[in-house]
Amino acid sequence: MELDPELVRLARETAKSKGIEDRATFIEAHILDVNLADATLVLCYVYPTASEALRPKFESELKSGARVVMESFDIPGWKPVKTADRGGKSFYLYIMPPETTKI
Ligand SMILES: C[S@@+](CC[C@H](N)C(=O)[O-])C[C@H]1O[C@@H](n2cnc3c(N)ncnc32)[C@H](O)[C@@H]1O
Repeated sequence: MELDPELVRLARETAKSKGIEDRATFIEAHILDVNLADATLVLCYVYPTASEALRPKFESELKSGARVVMESFDIPGWKPVKTADRGGKSFYLYIMPPETTKI
């Protein structure tokens, strides 16, 4: 989900150029307006306040086994199963239901 139509267009174009357009969905929408029940992988690059706000949505909508990858900012209170640094950026992988930690 992305509010900016230009970024959605760019994401679709990039996916097509890499031959993965049939494996990813890019939706122009407010993230809270889209139900995530069918998602198997959610990749987010949002600021910390947004990642905190998304936590209850992920917990209530994502099915068991769905993966969440957060770029740059983790989800407070969730323990990632893996972290990685690529190209100067940090990535956090969670698998639903995530192990929780004290905030
Ligand atoms: C940290 S930037 C990431 C920009 C870009 N997606 C990238 O990967 O470089 C956060 C993005 O979240 C988008 N955004 C902010 N609030 C949103 C919301 N409620 N629903 C969907 N996208 C939102 C902004 O338009 C902005 O592009």
